[in-house]
Order: sequence, then C-alpha cells, then structure tokens
Amino acid sequence: MTAVTPFASRQPVTGDPLDPGFGVYVHWPFCAAKCPYCDFNSHVRHQPVDQDRFVAAFLAEMETMRRLTGPRTVTSIFMGGGTPSLMQPSTVDAILSGISRHWHMPDGIEITMEANPSSVEAERFRGYRAAGVNRVSLGVQALNDRDLRFLGRLHDVEDALKAIRLAREIFPRMSFDLIYARPNQTVAEWDAELKQAVSYAVDHLSLYQLTIEEGTPFYGLHKAGKLVVPDGEQSAILYEATQEITAREGMPAYEVSNHARPGAESRHNLTYWRYGDYVGIGPGAHGRLSAGDAKIATATERHPETWLGRVEAEGHGVVDREVLALSEQADELLLMGLRLTEGVDLARWQALAGRGPDPDREQFLIDHGFIERLGNSRLRCTPAGMLILDAVVADLAC
Ligand SMILES: C[S@@+](CC[C@H](N)C(=O)[O-])C[C@H]1O[C@@H](n2cnc3c(N)ncnc32)[C@H](O)[C@@H]1O
Ligand code: SF4
Repeated sequence: MTAVTPFASRQPVTGDPLDPGFGVYVHWPFCAAKCPYCDFNSHVRHQPVDQDRFVAAFLAEMETMRRLTGPRTVTSIFMGGGTPSLMQPSTVDAILSGISRHWHMPDGIEITMEANPSSVEAERFRGYRAAGVNRVSLGVQALNDRDLRFLGRLHDVEDALKAIRLAREIFPRMSFDLIYARPNQTVAEWDAELKQAVSYAVDHLSLYQLTIEEGTPFYGLHKAGKLVVPDGEQSAILYEATQEITAREGMPAYEVSNHARPGAESRHNLTYWRYGDYVGIGPGAHGRLSAGDAKIATATERHPETWLGRVEAEGHGVVDREVLALSEQADELLLMGLRLTEGVDLARWQALAGRGPDPDREQFLIDHGFIERLGNSRLRCTPAGMLILDAVVADLAC
C-alpha cells in the first residue's frame, strides 16, 4: 500500500450536514447505445420512445409519491439516466412543472441534468435551460479518442469539447465525468489528461475509477483475461495523483470521486451522502423517505415498459417498499457519510445505532491510518481509508 497524502482540511460548504434537505430524482432509462462497462438501468430502443406517455407516467408516479411524502420543500432536483439529454425540452419542462405542482419548489434550487456529449444540440440545451435546468453533468469519460473508442463511446474528444463549451455558455453550473484507471493507463498520461480536464472545468468534476461490473461485456472480457485493469497498487497511485492534482488546482475531493471548488459541491448528491430524504421517480429509481423515526426505502420496477404498464394500471411502479430498522439506517448513514471528507456526525450515528463505534475497532482503524476523528463530533475516512471504504464500513457497522 502506498502512503496517501492527507485530505485538504476544507469541508463541503454547501448546505448543512445536519439538515440534509429533500431531493427529487427522476430517471430517464434510455441511451443511444449501451457502453460495455455500464450496469446502470439504461436501455437501447430501436423505435422512437413515446415521450408523452412517459411524461404522463412520471406525473402519475409523482402524485403517488406526494401522498407518501406529504408537503415538503424541494432542495434539489436531479435528472439522471440513462441519457436524459435524449429527452425533448418539452418533456423536461413537463417533469419540472409537475414537481413544482406537487412540492414547494423555491426559485434558484439546483436542477441538474445528465447529458452525453453525443446527444447535445445547442437548441436542446437552450430548451433545457428555459425549462429551468441550471446545472449540467456531462459524461465526457476520457480526453483521448483511443480510450473513448475503448470505452465504446459514441462521441470523440472534439464532440466532448464542443459540449463543454456549449454547457459553459448556457448553464450557470457545469460538471463533467471522467473514468480513469483504464487498462495500461500510466500516471504520467492521467496526470496530463487530468490537468487538461481541470483547465476545461468550471467548478466541479466527477472522477471515477473504472469498475468492472458483473454482467457487462467488460466483465466477460476481464474474466477471460482479455481486459486487464490496474491492480490495487497501481489504482492507489492513480487515486493519489488524482487527489494531489485536483487539490493543487483548487478543486479538492469532497467525496470519494467528486471534486469541487468550495461552494460548488452538488447539493443533490450531498443530500444522498448526508442521508437526507429523496423521492425516486421513474424506472429503477430509489427513494428514502423519513416517517417519524422510521425511514422508508422505495424502489421502482427497473424495466422501462414494465414500469410504464404498472404506473398506467396502479399509479406507481413501486415494487419494493421497506421500513428500515434503526440499525439499518445507522449502517446506511455510515456507508454514505464516510464517502464525504466531512465524514459522519457521531451523535447522529449513535442515536440510530444505539451505541458509539466499538473502541477497539475504531482504534485499530485509526492506528492503521484508515479513519480519523474531526474533533469529538465527527468521524471520517482518510484518503487511504476511502480506497477500502467497504471494508472500513463493514468493520464499524452494526
Ligand atoms: C449514470 S452514468 C450517466 C452519464 C451519461 N449517460 C453518460 O454516460 O455520458 C454516470 C457516470 O457513471 C460513470 N460510470 C458508469 N459506469 C462506470 C463504471 N463501470 N466504472 C466507472 N465509472 C462508471 C460514468 O462516468 C458516467 O458518466
Ligand atoms: S455510461 Fe451513460 S451512455 Fe453509457 S450506457 Fe451507461 S448510462 Fe448509457
């Protein structure tokens, strides 16, 4: 294991960790092509998708969710996918209008939409902006054409740069995603690519290590030995370089894979990681809703047309609705909160878990440099701990 430099001392400055907000997530489940690494709920259709029918279903499911949540004030909206930029601006407009009819939606809240560089047209971007979208998150993935082809992307670097320029021109806020730890990627290559990315970025970047997900074409190739990804040591070196470069450039990590200038953190994602409430609308969307001390976990049918049929028949596509025990909530709070450089609030965790962290296990993890206390009230992972986050959580969990 390489030594990993400590996190910059700053914490996310967006929102309040103890008042994590209420987000609305809307899932658009279609893509123009399926990327070979991706296991998100995304589907390719060779016939045009009936967007009006989907809008009617989104609105119907919102009505059902509104009955579950009661009146609430929305702090952020996120349209994810799939490829939401395949939606017509009128579809986006209808979804946002629906949300504003069901919940209190103050002016100026963060409204993010994911977009693929290959599905970007200036006119559509302007339409999304007119509908109320004020933040766009672009799936750039790589800044060289060889790796974009390897990742099965439909765009090239030129398209990506065009999309970045257009997004910067039209939206007040913009982020983009890159995937690193690609086969044979050297630190020097990643270093150069990341510096270039930082120069194009406004105030936010999502930098994901390539994960080989079961059931994807990459999984089969990897298993057959035809696709070799960097080992643990090399991944740690690449992660370390990522932390160093982004911190030096003024966009340090505030979460395992997310980097922002202070104040430009994603409000919506902070709601997830601070274990706030959110409704999930659309195929395969998840939600977490508080009801007194209880937290209800919801999940909808994943298959788009099956979801559509269920919503048309029953007013919602919820196939799983579970009341989480306090110990399960404590585990989720830990799993989400330790992703953040601000860590978790120990009093909040203790109230759910019914106990503090086991002193021996905590000391062991501190001694090995995986976690640290921030004063008396918060516990967080070190960068080295972030690299083995699941193991750290498993060690501390209920
Ligand atoms: C839900 S995807 C949607 C983004 C958009 N559809 C696109 O691809 O441009 C969000 C991001 O997750 C990341 N991602 C998806 N699968 C991944 C994998 N197996 N390993 C690492 N990152 C992945 C990609 O960076 C992607 O942009
Ligand atoms: S990475 Fe994005 S474009 Fe590719 S299949 Fe997944 S959701 Fe679709």
